Amino acid sequence: MCDCDNILPQGTVKEKHYFNCQTLWKGEPLRNPDGTTRLPNKHIDRESHDILYHLNLSTNDDLEAMFGDVKFVCTGGTEHRLRAFALYMAQLLDLPYNEDNLVNITKLSKRYAMFKVGPVLAFNHGIGIPSMTTALQEVIKLLFHAKVKNPIIIRLGSCGGVGVEPGDVIISSWGLNGLLEKNYVSYVLGEERRYPTYLDTRLAQELQALTSPDDGFQILIGGTLAADDYYRGQGRLDGPFCDYTEADKMEFLHKLYAAGVRNIEMEATAFAAFTHQAGIRSAIVCVALLNRFNGDQIKTSKKGIEEFEANIMKVVGRFIQNYEKNKRK
Ligand code: URA
Repeated sequence: MCDCDNILPQGTVKEKHYFNCQTLWKGEPLRNPDGTTRLPNKHIDRESHDILYHLNLSTNDDLEAMFGDVKFVCTGGTEHRLRAFALYMAQLLDLPYNEDNLVNITKLSKRYAMFKVGPVLAFNHGIGIPSMTTALQEVIKLLFHAKVKNPIIIRLGSCGGVGVEPGDVIISSWGLNGLLEKNYVSYVLGEERRYPTYLDTRLAQELQALTSPDDGFQILIGGTLAADDYYRGQGRLDGPFCDYTEADKMEFLHKLYAAGVRNIEMEATAFAAFTHQAGIRSAIVCVALLNRFNGDQIKTSKKGIEEFEANIMKVVGRFIQNYEKNKRK
């Protein structure tokens, strides 16, 4: 039995099912029959006391009452972007939140910020994989403890475009590590582990299909290089250290482009690997701040960057609004 949510009418996108539709399950089910998350870690169960330290939440809080109705979990680097997104979603979904009454739920953690407007939970994850995975793993546990059903996690990020113009939006098809492999490499108990970094193709196609001719920007699907460093790790010439030539850099960017990579950011591999392992549908939607074929420094004003960031909010907002509209039918 197919249990895909249909955000768009059937047949609108090529991929028939979400990656974790029941019809595609092999081996252990990824979710419980009611859609709640099954955590692969058997040390954590619903009975045990669990502290979500960096979120300043724990199972002593009534997590189900606070978060049980969440459907969309949206994340991104900065508190500013995620707060703006939560307020934007409140407007689109006609919910009574504004600058004055929107609460940062995790304010006392003094680390990450989190906002909730109706079915949308928005939190920021900082820069890079270790910061992102710390927040993301606690949010995955939060979804488990709160018995959230069939959540969708979307990262709204900024990136360097590879042959993509500033303002255009890239939806990641997969994440690539620094060795250009579709793996997230991590070290566990003194050993190297590799986790695949594919994202939900159907979700990416649905997000892209909601494009409008009036947008004024393109929405592409492409591979994403997740670098562990903003400067040398992304082949920049403007860091404090540089041990390669401009020709080497250009050769690398062309190699990326030929491999189907369309953007560079700093989280995609781990984000794809962790959400996949948790059996949670996810997508990465990034706006290009520059085309790396044309340079390394971001010359756009802060106001211009905010305008670019509005593009990813538009794409993700439209998707959530459609879902909510279909649900009410
Ligand atoms: N974020 C990155 O990681 N790289 C860029 O070039 C821009 C934003």
